[in-house]
Amino acid sequence: VIDIRKLYGQTGMFTFDPGFTSTASCESALTYIDGDEGVLLHRGYPIGQLAEQSSFMEVSYLLLNGELPSKPELDAFTRTISRHTMVHEQLSSFYKGFRRDAHPMSIMCGVVGALSAFYHDSTDIADPLQRRIASHRLIAKMPTIAAMAYKYSVGQPFVYPDNSLSYTGNFLKMTFGVPAEEYEVIPAVESAMDKIFILHADHEQNASTSTVRLAGSSGANPFACIAAGIACLWGPAHGGANEAALNMLKEIGTPDRIPHYIERAKDKNDPFRLMGFGHRVYKNYDPRAIVMQQTVREVFDALKVNDPLFETALELEHLALNDPYFIEKKLFPNVDFYSGIILNAIGFPTDMFTVLFALARTVGWVAQWNEMISDPGQKIGRPRQLYTGPTQRDYVPVDKR
Ligand code: ACO
Repeated sequence: VIDIRKLYGQTGMFTFDPGFTSTASCESALTYIDGDEGVLLHRGYPIGQLAEQSSFMEVSYLLLNGELPSKPELDAFTRTISRHTMVHEQLSSFYKGFRRDAHPMSIMCGVVGALSAFYHDSTDIADPLQRRIASHRLIAKMPTIAAMAYKYSVGQPFVYPDNSLSYTGNFLKMTFGVPAEEYEVIPAVESAMDKIFILHADHEQNASTSTVRLAGSSGANPFACIAAGIACLWGPAHGGANEAALNMLKEIGTPDRIPHYIERAKDKNDPFRLMGFGHRVYKNYDPRAIVMQQTVREVFDALKVNDPLFETALELEHLALNDPYFIEKKLFPNVDFYSGIILNAIGFPTDMFTVLFALARTVGWVAQWNEMISDPGQKIGRPRQLYTGPTQRDYVPVDKR
């Protein structure tokens, strides 16, 4: 290994921290996590209280503005968001360029990245008003874009936003309305979905949020930054885990097959992991998973359905939490473990799961991006490296090699 201080004239402290397990990349007043205690607070408010008593619009306001809104403030914010739900008509022709069987996350990366081609009047990041408009546009348009991705994949006509509905009710109608005029939002499903959005709204400096911040640190426009976040979220170790968790539960099938999969997860020679288990920060039960598990029952009751995979999931959790391997490594269910069962019951295909995560996380990304841009001490993100390649050597012409 070359001494990097000599190579680059580096002075002072130089840390090597692969995966940033112990390096803070920024200061932030948005979200606090105590991973050992299983605590998650947004602007100081516990996630459980927000999920049970608040709404996604209110949590969005809280994350963006730092305080809970008064009733008039919440009404005004909700109205503003609803005024931005439409997408440029020209944007809908984008979808036709994708294969019908494209993964909706690949469509989301493309379409959200293209937003800056339509909304140039909110890309001057030095202007606080433009930043606010871009933030509202992103939060408002994500449900429309996500629903359009779904509609395109199933070959149904796009459903235009209905701004008489709530943020979440409108999304459900745009997704499941066939025909849209006859669609009736089921309040319990709307409430469960809103809760799921709250649970995914922000989670401090996870991989996708760090990606948004890093992209934004160069001055890139907010639409491009959020598209970068979506791309990062897609990975199975991050937002793709909810899709992977449900697929795993389907593969396991019945509770009698669980021990075999637990043994596989413990086998170092087997790449299999229990999806929806473990977390970089939580070394305790993920508080979002607790709400998620309760929400499964609410949705089953509202829709009068039952899914035997829920029993399999409960049994898997029970066996894993009593297994010395999982105890020693402090591996607990995370937010993704139960969410797939709920989304499946509501009627979303598995490849839409990460899209829903992206929709909700857009609020956190946007709030984090705003926090960064507003910081007068903000610098371009530029990690260093520990160079392990050859030392300096002379070029040899190709006929002499
Ligand atoms: N199943 C089995 N073993 C696991 C699991 C798991 N799900 N998760 C971690 N481990 C083991 C690892 O093999 C490792 O063992 P070792 O110490 O013997 O090498 C140890 O626990 C630590 O795991 P790391 O991968 O080093 O932990 P890290 O903090 O880097 O990873 C991660 C966290 C990526 C979430 C991991 O737990 C995982 O892959 N889980 C499954 C995927 C998942 O559910 N992701 C969603 C995360 S939440 C979110 O993004 C919203």
